[in-house]
Amino acid sequence: MRRPGISNLLGGRGPAILLALVLGLAAPPLGPAPPATAQDSSPVRADAASLARGQEIYGQMCAVCHGIQGRGDGPLARTMVPRPADFRVHMAEGHTPQQLFEWTSLGVPETAMPGYAADLSDDDRWNVINYLQTFAPAAQ
Ligand code: HEC
Repeated sequence: MRRPGISNLLGGRGPAILLALVLGLAAPPLGPAPPATAQDSSPVRADAASLARGQEIYGQMCAVCHGIQGRGDGPLARTMVPRPADFRVHMAEGHTPQQLFEWTSLGVPETAMPGYAADLSDDDRWNVINYLQTFAPAAQ
């Protein structure tokens, strides 16, 4: 003997309701990766003005060690152990902007990298970090 199907109980709309329920429940795990949180990105948009300002700061304060092209080969770099970071490599490694901000603000312990929290405003530290990220080889 046949048991009454659930669609009979729901007056014929059972399948649609069930489908909606299943899709609704399935949606979160099947959805795209969660969007980056605000913490993962620079709060200062990397527009032309920000990059121009970042480049100016970089030329004045960073290139002497990190090199004009970010290779870690500025004139002061020769004697340093460890050598300044090569930004072409380091940016490609995908450090989060938050990490870069912390290093730029506080310096890198046990290295010649000074902290710039006292010399550069928050916005200017973000401007220079936006600029640093242009050293990464273009994403394929
Ligand atoms: C006196 C030399 C010197 C100056 C000036 C300097 N740096 Fe550095 N920087 C270093 C050294 C040395 C390191 C350490 C490299 C390492 O950890 O391998 C470093 C590391 C860093 C790092 C960490 C990179 C990484 O991926 O490990 C960042 C970011 C950075 N510097 C940003 C800057 C910015 C921005 C400026 C200018 C505002 C600046 N630095 C100026 C010497 C310098």
